[in-house]
Amino acid sequence: YRAVVLVSGTGSNLQALLDACGQGADHSKRIGASVVGVLSNRADALALSRAARAGVATEVLSHRDFSDREGFDAAMIERIDAWAPDVVVLAGFMRILTPAFVAHYQGRLINIHPSLLPKHKGLNTHQRALDAGDSEHGCSVHFVTPELDGGPVIAQHRLSVHQQDSAESLAARVHQAEHQLYPRVLGWLASGRLQWQPEALLFDGRAL
Ligand code: GRF
Repeated sequence: YRAVVLVSGTGSNLQALLDACGQGADHSKRIGASVVGVLSNRADALALSRAARAGVATEVLSHRDFSDREGFDAAMIERIDAWAPDVVVLAGFMRILTPAFVAHYQGRLINIHPSLLPKHKGLNTHQRALDAGDSEHGCSVHFVTPELDGGPVIAQHRLSVHQQDSAESLAARVHQAEHQLYPRVLGWLASGRLQWQPEALLFDGRAL
């Protein structure tokens, strides 16, 4: 089961996926998938060195080299499809995708977001959870639709917000949770347990 991962930054989620796929320091495979390519829109993304260390092919495609989103997304599709992915995994990829890109990968494009969706779509989620006085916070993995952070949620990891929490302390705990949750979901997709058919999320063949 072939996964292509899109990144813009640190790539700690990419690392968690590589580790689960047996492509990290420890070669034991926990899920039936492999990361076959990593695409970054930033040449300086630390995620690229993680991919290189794992022996995974990388591509850098800067959105700045394109006059519009359509052109950038079309170029991405060409690069990504050359890796023949079963799934495209957004892991800290900081560009908004066009409806054409999303439609091209419908049902095989997933994202991880640092909030309990549908709460706190967009940026600065940890501070916003604190400002809202939320007693729980966490992360969500969802299928991507044209609506930003709005596609069907597959799984969430919840954690309690403590009185002494800051945006930084929350971010650290949510990040750790992401590293558990994302590989688990990729494993479900790889094993065929989880599928998205238009309008229906199926788990073990049953609608969620
Ligand atoms: C994560 O918090 C993820 O939820 C968000 O971007 C961040 C990426 O972190 N979409 P990393 O690059 O995987 O460390």
